[in-house]
Amino acid sequence: MFLMRGVIAVVLAVVVLPVRAQGNDQLRVQIEAKGANIATQLVAACPIAGPGDQVAFDRCRKIMFQPAGFRQELKGILLWGRPDPNPDRTLKDTTLTQFAPEIWAGLYGPLFMFDGTWTVTFDPREKLYRVQFGALFRNALAPGEYPYPFWQNAKKWDDYEKANAIVFWARPDSGAFVAAQFFNTGVAVAHLKSSAHPPPVFDGNWMWTDRDGKTQPQPALFQGLFAPANPFLSQLEPSYRDLANAMRSGHCNDCHVPNNPAGMKRLVLLQTPAHAASEIVRVMAAVRNNRMPEDDVGLYREIDDGTKAALLKYGAAFEAVVNAARDWEKSHPGQ
Ligand code: HEC
Repeated sequence: MFLMRGVIAVVLAVVVLPVRAQGNDQLRVQIEAKGANIATQLVAACPIAGPGDQVAFDRCRKIMFQPAGFRQELKGILLWGRPDPNPDRTLKDTTLTQFAPEIWAGLYGPLFMFDGTWTVTFDPREKLYRVQFGALFRNALAPGEYPYPFWQNAKKWDDYEKANAIVFWARPDSGAFVAAQFFNTGVAVAHLKSSAHPPPVFDGNWMWTDRDGKTQPQPALFQGLFAPANPFLSQLEPSYRDLANAMRSGHCNDCHVPNNPAGMKRLVLLQTPAHAASEIVRVMAAVRNNRMPEDDVGLYREIDDGTKAALLKYGAAFEAVVNAARDWEKSHPGQ
C-alpha cells in the first residue's frame, strides 16, 4: 500500500509539478530569502529582552519605523489580528484590523521581540505562503506605550501575552505581505515565554492624561516615532481633537473603535491621531462622497450639513498638519 502510494506520488510529481510549480518554486526561493532577511533584521533590531525594557523597545521601534527599514516590506494595507477561534474559518472570514505600514511598523510590530527563527510554508487552504517568525510580546511596558489599552478585552491581552509567533501571509504571485497574525503555536519554546503581567483596569477611554499631565498613549501622537524637533508634532494633538469632536457628532466612534461594536470584519480604527492620520485620505473621501457614516444595515446615515462641513474642515486641517509633519521627517532624515 505504501509502495503504491509512493509510486502514485512519484508519477504525480513528474507529471504535475513541472507544469504547475515552476513559478511557485522560484517564488518560494524568493520568499525564503525574504524570510531569512527579515528574521535577521528583526532579531538585530528587536532581540529578546526583558518584557518591560523601555530602552530595548525604543531602539526596536525606531529601527522598525524607519522608512528604509522593515517598513519597506509592507506595501499597502496590512490586516492584523489573531487567528479566528474557529479553526475552520480562513482569513477571509476572520476579523482583522486594517493598518497602514507606518502604523504597524511604528505602533504594533515593535511590541514584539524576535528570536531570529523563521519558517516558510505554503498553506494550500489559504493559497498563501506563511512566513513565520518566533516572537514574544512585551507585556510589561508602561500602559501608554501600547497603541490603545489592549486590556479592554481580557482575552485579547491574554492572547498577546501568550503569543510565541507572528505569521506574515504572503501572496503566491508577488510575495507581498497581505496579513499578519500573532498566536501561540502550541509548541513551548523556553525563551518565548514570559510570566503574566496583569494589565491596569480599563476605564473606557482610548486616550487619557497621565499623572504628569501628558496625553497617552504617546506613540499614538507620533511621540517616539517622529523626531522631537519636528515642529508639527505639537500641532497634531489639537488638530486631531477638532476632528475627533466632528467624528463624534458624525457617529464615527460608534463603529471605528477597537472594541469593534459593529463587528466589522476589516476594522478601520480612527480613535487616536496616529490611527486617524494613516486613514485620513480615505476618511475625507468617504465623507465627501456620502459613504460614511453608515447605519446598522450599511446604508448612508444622514448627518446634518454642519456636521459634514465640520468633518471636512477639521479633516482637511488635520490632513495638512499630518502631511507637513511627514514632509518635515522626509527632509530631516536621521534626526
Ligand atoms: C454603523 C457603523 C459605522 C459608522 C457609524 C461609520 N462607519 Fe465607517 N465603516 C463602517 C464599515 C462596516 C466599514 C467597512 C465598509 C467596507 O469596507 O465595505 C467602514 C469603512 C470605513 C472606511 C474605510 C473604507 C472606505 O470607505 O474608505 C473609512 C475611512 C470610514 N469607514 C470612515 C468613517 C467615518 C469618517 C465615519 C464617521 C463620519 C464613519 N466611518 C462612520 C462602519 C461605520
